[in-house]
Amino acid sequence: MTTDTILEVKDLKTYFYTENGVIPSVDGVTFDIKKGETIAIVGESGSGKSVTSLSIMGLVGSPGKVAGGEILFEGKDITKISKREMRKLRGNEIAMIFQEPLTSLNPLFTVGNQISESIRLHQKASKEEAKKIAIEMLKKVGIPRAEKIYSSHPHLLSGGMRQRVMIAMALSCNPKLLIADEPTTALDVTIQAQILELMRNLSRENDTSIMLITHDLGVVAEMVDKVIVMYAGQVVEHTDVYTLFKDPKHPYTKGLLDSTPKIHELKEELQSIEGTVPPPGSIPVGCRFNTRCPYATEKCFSETPELTEVSPNHQVRCWLHEEGEVAI
Ligand SMILES: Nc1ncnc2c1ncn2[C@@H]1O[C@H](COP(=O)(O)OP(=O)(O)OP(=O)(O)O)[C@@H](O)[C@H]1O
Ligand code: SF4
Ligand SMILES: [Mg+2]
Repeated sequence: MTTDTILEVKDLKTYFYTENGVIPSVDGVTFDIKKGETIAIVGESGSGKSVTSLSIMGLVGSPGKVAGGEILFEGKDITKISKREMRKLRGNEIAMIFQEPLTSLNPLFTVGNQISESIRLHQKASKEEAKKIAIEMLKKVGIPRAEKIYSSHPHLLSGGMRQRVMIAMALSCNPKLLIADEPTTALDVTIQAQILELMRNLSRENDTSIMLITHDLGVVAEMVDKVIVMYAGQVVEHTDVYTLFKDPKHPYTKGLLDSTPKIHELKEELQSIEGTVPPPGSIPVGCRFNTRCPYATEKCFSETPELTEVSPNHQVRCWLHEEGEVAI
């Protein structure tokens, strides 16, 4: 690990132990994030993106657990630290904007109470100062009548408004790593742009690393350095954003890019690859993408490809790109 690496995920396995058997939702995922770097995790629904981020946050609930691998934050394996240490790290050094904001705000306290509490904890501000910063932050994420919202309870707000409050809260504690799971899907396009701009500024000003989970390849093209493409619990392609758009290698990545409308009309979800991600309980033998891949050969149905370096900083999991095979 180099000293500028903030997070290193090594061969992460997160499994759910259900009545119907073991579900390997994240199955040997490896990547790292450098200081100040923004990476994106993309992939269709069910590919394991949220479970990967919850694993990093130490928030995978029963019946799931991290069953293998390491998650090194500033060099320390955080899968092995105590619950207390993890709580300290969370919302302090690592903050997360959840895909589902309803569950992550406390219904008993006002919005202002929760944000200023978090600010006071992290910025050593007085009560008055914290209130001022909180209201400023609420305005920054596009909340109208911020003073009024400050005194409201979360359940009185719309879903979009709650999401903005969550974002304000995550940003206000100046984390070293911000994990944002589909942070703007529920918001309208103008607010989306504002929030992403805010995240980008945060990253620039404070050297914050960002792990962004998104379906929106337009956002990826605009604001990330590296991209990880996940399929059925595994990384299938991993490279810098420029290479991903210019020279995608994995048939799945190509499918995702082909199904994305052109830049100016980029707000739709990925949808034109036929079929769906196999549920973790019924993963096919061989390559996990074989049921949907237009290039599949016999070998793809019997042997499993490994994630392989095809050029410096470009890894692909596909038999077409193993040494000696014909590349597409
Ligand atoms: N509590 C759970 N119990 C059993 N299986 C689960 C649980 N949580 C997630 N999974 C399974 O793990 C797989 C990955 O889920 P995950 O939520 O990470 O997908 P995702 O990539 O975030 O999808 P989306 O884009 O829809 O948010 C899914 O197939 C899901 O069914
Ligand atoms: S290994 Fe085979 S099935 Fe899998 S993506 Fe490559 S060509 Fe397609
Ligand atoms: Mg998700």
